[in-house]
Amino acid sequence: MNVLIVLAHPERASFNGGQVNVAIHHLQCAGHAVELDDLYGEEFDPVERASHYTDRVDHQYFAPLTEQRAHFEKGTLSQDVKREIARLDWAHLVIFQFPLWWHAQPAVLKGWFDRVLVYGGLYSGSMRYNRGCFQGKKAILSVTTGSPEAAFMPFGRAGNMVDWLWPIHSSLYYVGFEVLAPQVSYGVQGGGIRYQEEAAFQDRLEHMKAAWGKRLMTIGDEQGIPFTAWDDWDDQGVLKQSHPMRWRVS
Ligand SMILES: Cc1cc2nc3c(=O)[nH]c(=O)nc-3n(C[C@H](O)[C@H](O)[C@H](O)COP(=O)(O)O)c2cc1C
Repeated sequence: MNVLIVLAHPERASFNGGQVNVAIHHLQCAGHAVELDDLYGEEFDPVERASHYTDRVDHQYFAPLTEQRAHFEKGTLSQDVKREIARLDWAHLVIFQFPLWWHAQPAVLKGWFDRVLVYGGLYSGSMRYNRGCFQGKKAILSVTTGSPEAAFMPFGRAGNMVDWLWPIHSSLYYVGFEVLAPQVSYGVQGGGIRYQEEAAFQDRLEHMKAAWGKRLMTIGDEQGIPFTAWDDWDDQGVLKQSHPMRWRVS
């Protein structure tokens, strides 16, 4: 299996960087080919803007979707976006490694989605969800948090991890990925608010690294989390009345 690891962290020596090292080691031991896509290290520009597009369709008004489609079709997307798309084409599994920042991914990763998942190329009205272009490929989020696990439990002050990760999971499914259950490493307290004394904390970090490594040894066998799909929706894109999940709403 070809595995692409997209790292969104400004410090390669961080715990997040360490999780990348764990992944490279274990995946290679299991016989997989691994490529690291270090967004900060490669100075990926996450801001979608007009200057990325030469020879625009409309020079007066910048419409990102219009320019993305036209430049994909002409083969004139910027080199960095072309490189990222080639990496995605190569990969059978994509791992996104990042810390939870303000209940979401760091901006560099949000911008990677904005720029790389190109309209008219990687998705369109008819090429989405379970008809998306990355069907047959898997993706997984490996996320770290500052807050401890208990704070993310129901009624916990840190909120619901399923909700925080939904926009990213949903976006990956939108372009056709089978999305595996996330790997969440909680309570990586770092230089900020501290929840645990140092020795116990370091011990827990090692356990979280080991758990990630162990999971990766058989990750190719995992099934994705369930999503609804085209056959489940009516003409408005709403779950059909007959769908079992419609018990939630009348
Ligand atoms: C800008 C910023 C925002 C953060 N927001 C959150 C947050 O919403 N929830 C949380 O649990 N931790 C938050 N943290 C803490 C980080 O998630 C934590 O420091 C990180 O996961 C530790 O991993 P690292 O040592 O690899 O950086 C935030 C940290 C930063 C720098």
